[in-house]
Amino acid sequence: MARAMTVAGVMSGTSADGVDVALVRIRPGARTPKIKLLAHQGVAYPAALRKAVLAAMNAPRTSTAELARLNWRLGMAYSEAVRAALQKHSVELDLIGCHGQTIYHQAKAASYVGRQVACTWQIGEPALIAREIGVPVVSNFRPADMAAGGEGAPLVPLLDFVLFAHPKRARILQNIGGIGNLTAIPAGASADKLIAFDTGPGNMVIDALAARLFGKKYDRDGKIAARGRVLDGVLGPLLREPYFRKAPPKSAGREQFGSDFAAEFLRSCKRAGGGPEDAIATATALTVESIVLACERFVHPLIGESRADFILSGGGSRNRTLMNMLRQRLGPRGHNVMVSDDAGLPSQAKEAVAFALLAWPTWHLLPGHVPAATGALKPAILGEISYV
Ligand SMILES: Nc1ncnc2c1ncn2[C@@H]1O[C@H](COP(=O)(O)OP(=O)(O)O)[C@@H](O)[C@H]1O
Ligand SMILES: [Mg+2]
Repeated sequence: MARAMTVAGVMSGTSADGVDVALVRIRPGARTPKIKLLAHQGVAYPAALRKAVLAAMNAPRTSTAELARLNWRLGMAYSEAVRAALQKHSVELDLIGCHGQTIYHQAKAASYVGRQVACTWQIGEPALIAREIGVPVVSNFRPADMAAGGEGAPLVPLLDFVLFAHPKRARILQNIGGIGNLTAIPAGASADKLIAFDTGPGNMVIDALAARLFGKKYDRDGKIAARGRVLDGVLGPLLREPYFRKAPPKSAGREQFGSDFAAEFLRSCKRAGGGPEDAIATATALTVESIVLACERFVHPLIGESRADFILSGGGSRNRTLMNMLRQRLGPRGHNVMVSDDAGLPSQAKEAVAFALLAWPTWHLLPGHVPAATGALKPAILGEISYV
């Protein structure tokens, strides 16, 4: 019998900016669990840790010692982030759901040592977190979905469905983290009718160019992009890339839109005569146009003529230039573009809340993924549990 629990969700995404912690009360409900966000808090990675994480992600070269140490070092960072949240917001915790840091994600099988292999790897030692905080930790959520034939992503659609499915309104939930991902739920639909997939780059290319061209972590509030001009000659061909046209399920990461992509993107901008601001404006437009394309190709056929609430979350929702471009492009379609704060969920907390929610079914031996989203052929109980 499922029971009410207070769960900490711990998320660190592909931006490698830091750790978000959400403290969530979850209790059984009639159709879906009921959730209440008690508090949330983000902690930036120390600069040296961010550097180590970025160096390990999709690294062409690293060492086993480096990865083993980083696994433990991240376990410490996650423990500290949870402890800091608990010091500020005193709650009695029952369970932790920790996503970990993805260092490699390859959703589609490719030939390797005589077999077709797909794989995914999230690190951040959960045994350490369980010991430090004194409650069990659910971690390593993605492999069980992949073993069941899914892409291992996206996993946030469970939360999207629980919080946002609406009897009369179509809802599109767009998160803009390092990667952009979307969940579309037609009005009155059951979970097996939703679609969800990664739309392409979110902030990842913008961040890479902001670092390279301006020595900044990101384009704060979209101010640099606002001064630039979108290079249509660069954007057009990129939008014809197969990833954007491919039907879901599909998922992406630094493997597709990481440093190699950013370097090639910058070369194209220079060839087109663009300056640094123009490159950032064009990267911002790439995020926006890949989302618009995703809506046109995959979401609008699903929701028909209905207008949707288009609800944004993730750090990218703070980029004003990106938000303005999205409003300009989606407003005319009649969609009501808003940030998830206006829909009752703090935008920066969303993915951390999702991993608190995902830990709860695992603890009760229930599946937590939405097979319609990941493409899994069978339901699967996600993750592993580290006990105290
Ligand atoms: N004020 C802001 N203006 C523009 N971009 C921002 C702002 N705050 C955060 N971001 C962007 O959001 C990213 C972090 O978003 P997040 O949702 O944590 O992504 P992830 O899940 O990949 O870690 C940063 O790297 C940055 O690109
Ligand atoms: Mg983050």
